Amino acid sequence: MSGPAAFGRLIGAGWMLARNDALLPRELDALYPPPIAALSGALRLFAGPQAKVGRPGERLARALEKLGPVAIKLGQLLSTRADIFGREFAEDLARLKDRLAPFPQEVARKELELALGRPLETLFASFGPPVAAASLAQAHEAVLLDGRRVAVKILRPRIGRRVAQDAEVLMLAARLTERLAPAARRLEPTGFARTVIRATELELDLRLEAAGADELGEVMAEDGYMRAPKVVWDGVGKRALTMEWAQGKPLSSEAALTQPGLDRRQLADNLIRAFLSQALDRGVFHADLHEGNLFVAAPAQITAIDFGIIGRLGAPERRYLAEILWGFLQRDYERVAQVHFDAGYVPARHSVAEFAQALRAVGEPVFGRAASEVPMSRVLTQLFEITALFDMRLRTELVLLQKTMMAVEGVARRIDPEHDIWSAAEPVVRRWIARELSPATRIRRLAGEAELAVRNLAKLTAVPPAEVIVETPPDARRRGGGGFLWFALGVLTSGLAFLAGAWLA
Ligand SMILES: Nc1ncnc2c1ncn2[C@@H]1O[C@H](COP(=O)(O)OP(=O)(O)O)[C@@H](O)[C@H]1O
Ligand SMILES: [Mg+2]
Repeated sequence: MSGPAAFGRLIGAGWMLARNDALLPRELDALYPPPIAALSGALRLFAGPQAKVGRPGERLARALEKLGPVAIKLGQLLSTRADIFGREFAEDLARLKDRLAPFPQEVARKELELALGRPLETLFASFGPPVAAASLAQAHEAVLLDGRRVAVKILRPRIGRRVAQDAEVLMLAARLTERLAPAARRLEPTGFARTVIRATELELDLRLEAAGADELGEVMAEDGYMRAPKVVWDGVGKRALTMEWAQGKPLSSEAALTQPGLDRRQLADNLIRAFLSQALDRGVFHADLHEGNLFVAAPAQITAIDFGIIGRLGAPERRYLAEILWGFLQRDYERVAQVHFDAGYVPARHSVAEFAQALRAVGEPVFGRAASEVPMSRVLTQLFEITALFDMRLRTELVLLQKTMMAVEGVARRIDPEHDIWSAAEPVVRRWIARELSPATRIRRLAGEAELAVRNLAKLTAVPPAEVIVETPPDARRRGGGGFLWFALGVLTSGLAFLAGAWLA
């Protein structure tokens, strides 16, 4: 795509955002300096009727949905940064939907034969119509020659080109933002744009998703809390992925929880334990555990699908996670505080005792009430909030973990409204602590690993932030809602972006 074409698409994207009043939202009027306020007033003249409906995060989600796959990925990544944009905004953005009209069955057959390099009849006894369609790929139901029922995911035709074009527009927007909105520079627009583009490109190779499904399938099989459908490698190519059909019903369907013989409490326990044992024991977890991706069958069997997003935690992060969960379960705040300092998460110039006091403020309200009322993810969220006061920098992996934990807990609570997350978690955390931290070796190992962790973290903090850390700008911390201003200034130009995918394409 030529420069002018990219620029044209950028204007189209800006138009789409302005139509939804998602570029310089009216909610922030009080925060804009005069020239920006004038611009935001002018932009509002272009707002459509939809601009009046919904909160800023909802309006932005709506605009991004229309702008295509890269914009959708951008929204999904922004939605993980509640620490910058505030919780409500992040949650609204997280509800962004990636659903599109399917491409025709005949095209799907052709794409599949091309992807696998063989006629369909040599692998499939039958190949059905699409069951779901998203911006990058769609899924079909099919039956193999050996009689197994399978799901086949196929990339959209020409999607690679589309993503490359959107990527060019996003980079242009990011560079303009950096040039024109110095205030947004701390958010590293180009670094962040690169992260978005890379995440989208990885999803354009379904062999990687197949490998993820295979790896997590092995991990899940160890505990039996959850399973993954088997990958059918003969039916895997860069543009196609075949796996066994998941048993049971998707949790997103009405009928899922009314199946006879279902043990809801056990089901919710299995879900929490599956997630924690993946993250803690193996350091690799399914990071997209929403209801549409979870199939359940009686009595308490869970099958996960959709392995496009996988989280990974290194040994120091796993230790950190186990120690804080265990510390909170034991109400040993001094110890949780010490873990933060040992791992180098909190700079040594702060006081351990003061940090422990702040932790107590997070922990005690939890344990004063029935544990079942307080989500574990909220403890993590609050923990991450107070850590800002202590200049703690968060690793992206931990943010992804916390976001997934929030999703998993929400699902567990809907499966069993009385569910007690903390007692569900305890056996997994206890097992980990018992195995990894036998009293004799504990102190010696902690010292060694803490040192390693500090060294690693020191290295990491030298890396450009968008990939690793996005810091809250100091004055955004002071004024609530300020984070959104930074963001708005960022999108102002970026938004003068993306575009018109729908518009000029
Ligand atoms: N192994 C499977 N068994 C049953 N249904 C599946 C399977 N894989 C995908 N599907 C169906 O296709 C839909 C889309 O597949 P998914 O892998 O979740 O892709 P997306 O990334 O678009 O959400 C799922 O919501 C589900 O209805
Ligand atoms: Mg899915």
